[in-house]
Amino acid sequence: MSALKSHSLIQTRMIRGAGPLGAMLGKWMLFRDPPDHTRLRSLVSKAFSPQMAERLRPKIQETTDFLLDSVKEKGEMDLMLHYASPLPLIVIAELLGVPAEDRERLRRWTIDIVPAIDFSPSREALMKATQGCKELMDYLRSIIIERRKGPPKEDLISALIEAEEQNDRLNEEELISMCALLLGAGHETTVNLIGNGSYALLRHPDQLALLREVPECVETAVEELLRYDSPVQMAFREVAEPVEIGGKLLRKGEQVINLLGSANRDPDAYPEPDRLDLRRTGPRHAAFGMGIHFCLGSHLARLEARAAFRSLAVKMPNLALQPVPIKRREGTNFRGLETLQVSF
Ligand code: HEM
Repeated sequence: MSALKSHSLIQTRMIRGAGPLGAMLGKWMLFRDPPDHTRLRSLVSKAFSPQMAERLRPKIQETTDFLLDSVKEKGEMDLMLHYASPLPLIVIAELLGVPAEDRERLRRWTIDIVPAIDFSPSREALMKATQGCKELMDYLRSIIIERRKGPPKEDLISALIEAEEQNDRLNEEELISMCALLLGAGHETTVNLIGNGSYALLRHPDQLALLREVPECVETAVEELLRYDSPVQMAFREVAEPVEIGGKLLRKGEQVINLLGSANRDPDAYPEPDRLDLRRTGPRHAAFGMGIHFCLGSHLARLEARAAFRSLAVKMPNLALQPVPIKRREGTNFRGLETLQVSF
């Protein structure tokens, strides 16, 4: 927590690919420090507020119900393919205001780009991400041009175009990069929360039964599932000036990896940290980070996850794991499942 809040640690200067990929990632506020970060964050916060996320509540519930009703008759599904993946994609596309028929392309680009911001991406991953990035930026540019021509809509792209603070606005390239960040940061992470959380519930039938019997405990349940199997495992930083943290002297230029998933299992903070307890109260977890880069989408992610777990527990009373091995996603930072076969 101290490291994440320390002003002596800044975003790492580790190179994240050249060309369009480096250009796009270089503009993400996630990788900027003050004063650039402060400026970008305050502009986007004008457009993307918890109230804006709140407006999506009915759409989120409608989508979880629709997805579960669509598979109900089948008796089994790959929960990642039919539930965890589509929900955040539908929600983020709706939030941004991109046409429903383009969702599949957005999903593909996100899948290609996300590995580039993982720990030590391979050359192949960077090449794939560069191509995905080019296509996504061209796509977003055309949407933004179109949106500027017409009357403003009630979506995030319009709000970002309009967002103004002290006579300052996002320029064209910043707008495109911001949309790409919201898409990337807001999609894969929530998919993995729903996937990891469902898997944890399925391995702890008593906890799944508790959620089914007392659906109101979904709020603490989501916090516990974020803590128990965190979708983002790491936050990378670089030491800007010597500083002592946790009794260790960090020297200028050193790279620091904050292990969020590990902090969330700290026995000094959480008694019996490896036990899943949906009613656990206690210190705030670090799954959304901490300090100036604290997750901007935490409110939206919580809304989605609460609806997803509540509906799954209540609408699927016989939910069980199928006796096939689960498959994990590749990568180190973004922890999630590739497939999760369940019956109901
Ligand atoms: C379960 C889902 C999510 C998790 C676990 C998660 C996790 C995180 C973490 C750990 C950070 C901080 C990284 C750091 O300090 O280096 C972060 C930042 C961020 N997240 Fe999320 N996130 C989630 C969902 C979302 C959603 C739904 C959105 C938007 C729609 C979003 C947008 C962002 C943005 C824009 C930042 C950068 C904030 C800044 O640099 O000031 N996230 N997220």
